[in-house]
Amino acid sequence: MKILAIETSCDESAVCIIEATGDFGPGFRFKVLGNALASQAALHAQYGGVFPNLAKREHAKALVPLLTQVVQQAGLDLPGSAAPRSPDELMALLSREPELFAQLTPYLASHAAPDIDCIAVTHGPGLEPALWVGVNFARALATAWQKPLVAVNHMEGHALLSMVKAPSGHSHILENVGMSEVEFPILALLISGGHTELVLSREFGSYDILGATRDDAAGEAFDKVARLLGLPYPGGPEISRLAALAREKNIGADFSLTRPMLHSGDYDFSFSGLKTEVRKLVESHEMTEEFKLQVAREFEECVADALIEKTMRAVEEFGTKVVVVGGGVSANTFIKKRLAERLAQEGDSASLLVPPPEFATDNALMIALAGYFHAIRKEFAELSALRADGNLALSK
Ligand code: KG4
Ligand code: ZN
Repeated sequence: MKILAIETSCDESAVCIIEATGDFGPGFRFKVLGNALASQAALHAQYGGVFPNLAKREHAKALVPLLTQVVQQAGLDLPGSAAPRSPDELMALLSREPELFAQLTPYLASHAAPDIDCIAVTHGPGLEPALWVGVNFARALATAWQKPLVAVNHMEGHALLSMVKAPSGHSHILENVGMSEVEFPILALLISGGHTELVLSREFGSYDILGATRDDAAGEAFDKVARLLGLPYPGGPEISRLAALAREKNIGADFSLTRPMLHSGDYDFSFSGLKTEVRKLVESHEMTEEFKLQVAREFEECVADALIEKTMRAVEEFGTKVVVVGGGVSANTFIKKRLAERLAQEGDSASLLVPPPEFATDNALMIALAGYFHAIRKEFAELSALRADGNLALSK
């Protein structure tokens, strides 16, 4: 099955086409036929964070060029026309996206429908105005091309991408990719700019949320602390770079931050107090390079401790043999390394699955994967009822 996927939940516009066979498990294989991404991070960096309406406008500009590129990469670009049977319907679907409509209409008129089996799109969670652009684009394509549509939960995409694995000897996940060995129940630590959740999955598609953040998400905390230190958005990679430098130079903090909710007896997280602590420190210290290194290192270790403590407790309570870490913060080398060490010491040989580094942050491959597993289950969306949902939860 060939599936075209669209992701616009935050500040990355992304389109991907994969060809996949087999169900979730050892028989699953896929290859990436085309993949492209336009990041808005540099634009949002000027403002220190993501502005939903600016993100929406940028997605609307980026999607048709990305689609054009990906369909060409996949060798599926054919001359012809996929002019919809009902142009009015297309116009109605894109009435809130005039820029997208203006680009898509000539595209459809001069390109035949590509040979794909279905379309997948992120419908939540994320920034609602941004999600709507992707959803409306996907509905328009599904209508024009007469293809079924799958609505994907972004967090499920992150989790699934962490489970794929290129055959040994291949460093890139592009061809003949399968899955790591997984055994249910799987514990997933999903850590991104908008979410921080510890999830137990007993079978494909079933998710119990054991705990979540009560305030800021882990990635959001990285971004906010980076801002306090005068570092650019997105803050995660910057803090992580400074923290690594501090370790390399053996610079330890002469203050300590409180590990949040370590002994709260549940699986919840909280990161906003940590940010307040850093703000107070910043107010009472001179912003020297050394001070920045100290804060970055102490903050990163604090977040790692909070995340890992709860994860280890869940591993023990549920006897999970597989821990999956997904979402943008899973790019963090220190968190991955420390979690791997703890699992090796006390995790009863539970394996740790993390995404390939180039796919840790948002992308459309993860949406294609999730979309595929739902498509083979014939879990298609009703076109007219499909909505973007900024708060969409992982459900059973
Ligand atoms: O999953 P993602 O790309 O977007 C959302 O779904 O939110 O995650 C983005 C988040 C940002 O907050 C960013 O600062 C964080 O992931 N991030 C990191 C690292 N790389 C990205 N956080 C910590 N360490 C990193 N190396
Ligand atoms: Zn994400």
